[in-house]
Amino acid sequence: MVRTPLVAGNWKMNFDHLEATYFLQKLVWLLRDAKFDYGRCEVALFPAFTALRSIEVLVEADNLHIRYGAQTVSVTSQGAFTGDVSADMLAQLGCSYVIVGHSERRKYHPEDDANIVDQVRAVLAAGMQPILCVGESYEERRQGIELEFAVGQVKDVTRDLSQEDVSKLIVAYEPVWAIGTGMVATPQVAQEASKAIRSYVADTFGTEAAQAMRILYGGSVTSKNAKELIGQQDVDGFLVGGAALEVDEFSKIARLTV
Ligand code: G3P
Repeated sequence: MVRTPLVAGNWKMNFDHLEATYFLQKLVWLLRDAKFDYGRCEVALFPAFTALRSIEVLVEADNLHIRYGAQTVSVTSQGAFTGDVSADMLAQLGCSYVIVGHSERRKYHPEDDANIVDQVRAVLAAGMQPILCVGESYEERRQGIELEFAVGQVKDVTRDLSQEDVSKLIVAYEPVWAIGTGMVATPQVAQEASKAIRSYVADTFGTEAAQAMRILYGGSVTSKNAKELIGQQDVDGFLVGGAALEVDEFSKIARLTV
């Protein structure tokens, strides 16, 4: 099974709607100049909620091949939940994906496994695909339990999901020690973790679901390390943070991933 790679730019809490649309326009020019083949690699942007509508308008008006999504979602569908944004609201804005369980959300917000499972369900019910982030901290790696930990996170979230749901899931292996530190995982480390996750999914939900599932790597990805990482059998793309704030750099990563 050939999985189409995905290069996703997680802007975190950066860029207002004007900066976001400027970035998108420039990205499209750069990729057009490079004759980028969107059929061979999907490119997606994850702006703050405030920029989603502007991105949608531009994507629709110019019929762009760039996808986009949100960085988190509410587990409730509507009502008196001040500050929350529902999955249906995101789907209505044309979002294809929602990042779920990013380590920064797990750290700064009360997002535990139960909440993350509910987010995954909400995203799927609204017809979008969740990008589930997992990955060990430095401490777990030091103890040598990194694979157990990352696979355990996948297990905790997928436990009550159906095979059909799991086949729509995208997993991002993002070791916490690699995020924003410049300490990228070696290709071997990224491969080992991705392979362990895929094997777990194969054993639990069947080979078909496992082979269909895209597993991204995230953590200090740049144009200097992307080529080697994407060469790994079980690495199907990237969730990029810092390097997704530089349009030249992000477009280079996309071009290297094709
Ligand atoms: O979600 C992307 C991320 O957390 C990785 O960030 O800055 O290390 O590429 P960065």
